[in-house]
Amino acid sequence: MPKRAQGNVTLVVGTFLGDEGKGKIIDYLAQKSDIVARATGGNNAGHKVCFDGKTYPLHLLPSGSFNPNAHVIIGNGVYVNPVVLADEISLLEKDGFNFKGRLHISEKAHVIMPYHILMDGIEEQYRINKIGTTGRGIGPTAEDKFSRDGIRFIDFYNACYSNCDFEKMFEKLCLSYLLKYRLEDEDSVIKQCLEQTAKYEKALKILLRYVDDTVSFIHTNLELGKNLLIEGAQATLLDIDFGNYPFVTSSNPIAAGMCAGVGIGPTYVTDVVGVLKAYCSRVGEGPFVTEETGPIGDKIRELGHEYGTTTGRPRRCGWLDLVALKYACRINGLTALAINHLDTIGKFETIKLCVGYKSPKTNKPTKNFTSEANKLKEIQPEYIELPGDFGDISKIRNVSKLPQNAINYLDFIESFVNVPIKYIGVGPDREDLIEC
Ligand code: GDP
Ligand code: IMO
Ligand code: MG
Repeated sequence: MPKRAQGNVTLVVGTFLGDEGKGKIIDYLAQKSDIVARATGGNNAGHKVCFDGKTYPLHLLPSGSFNPNAHVIIGNGVYVNPVVLADEISLLEKDGFNFKGRLHISEKAHVIMPYHILMDGIEEQYRINKIGTTGRGIGPTAEDKFSRDGIRFIDFYNACYSNCDFEKMFEKLCLSYLLKYRLEDEDSVIKQCLEQTAKYEKALKILLRYVDDTVSFIHTNLELGKNLLIEGAQATLLDIDFGNYPFVTSSNPIAAGMCAGVGIGPTYVTDVVGVLKAYCSRVGEGPFVTEETGPIGDKIRELGHEYGTTTGRPRRCGWLDLVALKYACRINGLTALAINHLDTIGKFETIKLCVGYKSPKTNKPTKNFTSEANKLKEIQPEYIELPGDFGDISKIRNVSKLPQNAINYLDFIESFVNVPIKYIGVGPDREDLIEC
């Protein structure tokens, strides 16, 4: 059999609980990519990209959008709030980035409707175990997708090109949702939804010109030898199956879910890059084995500017958990690591790394991660301590120029998980990166 002709496919996935700096790594890798695709999640994600003195917090557009020659895909696995996406496009267009002819929105992508956003708040209000969602309507959009009541881009596309009355269609959709869930205070809910009609119509009119069969587009280009970069949102421990259920998001942001989120089989994948920070953070509720709730956590937060890109919430912070990282390596089949915030952790005199878990019930140490929230709550971390004080490493661009303490720290991580570190972040900017 002749070998299948294809370009490289690189996946960039979050290894922990989100906000590892995926945006920065994607933006860097996108400079050498022909196509950049978002595969999962929605505008619950916030990916910061910094270059030329500007910072762009992207929620739906891929962080690779700044390569003007790259095609930009919103995959079938993404939940899209059209108003947010249209605003993001217009913001970037004002800064000279053009999307005509290069943005492709999957006809299969599901649309986040105003009632999904309202329902997100209602569900959280009645939950016994609060999740601390981002409130962007992700869970309810997923509920509709999997109960097969969702609205996809193709539905709006077909309606608009058959000259249907948008207002009437929108009202019908809102009413049918109310009927499905028999929402209390029906009048107020419908009023709040219908107030969004004009905004949705305006945004969808902009977006419908980009609706495309992204699966055929991707495969035709892969066969021509073009390279594809797939951007993960959220992360491994927020995965609906492999994360800390129920403190998770409503999708599969792991590598396998990302393949499904754009429509490629696993054998197409060349590299899976796992992004981590040199410490850990979490927004929202749920277990966090290495969390530091006192002055150390506060110091990490202040040094690393750990405040949510999407909601502005202060992020919970703690030491890097290598047991969880090993799990992420296994679940995603990582071929390389990208470690950010080496500059931040290097400001500590000594640095802790979690190398084992101990359950007080069994008192037995283990190096195997469990994603089960109830078990994790009781786990005691076992740490080793390594010397820090790296000095100012933000201008270093060659790994051999890093101080010995930093090299020892990176070597320890590599040998613990047995995956090579390929990228090292030493600051927030595009340039603040060492490629090994
Ligand atoms: P994402 O959701 O994984 O894309 O990550 P976010 O953008 O939400 O959060 C990562 C934060 O860390 C952002 O504020 C980035 O600008 C910042 N950042 C990324 N890499 C580095 C790094 O190597 N050093 C420092 N100091 N900041 C970084
Ligand atoms: P990026 O892509 C960090 C968290 C929320 C909450 C849980 C469920 O920027 O890394 P949801 O709104 O998805 O129903 O919330 O998931 N969460 C994130 N935390 N980074 C993210 O994305 C997140 N997306 C969702 O805080 O705990
Ligand atoms: Mg983020």
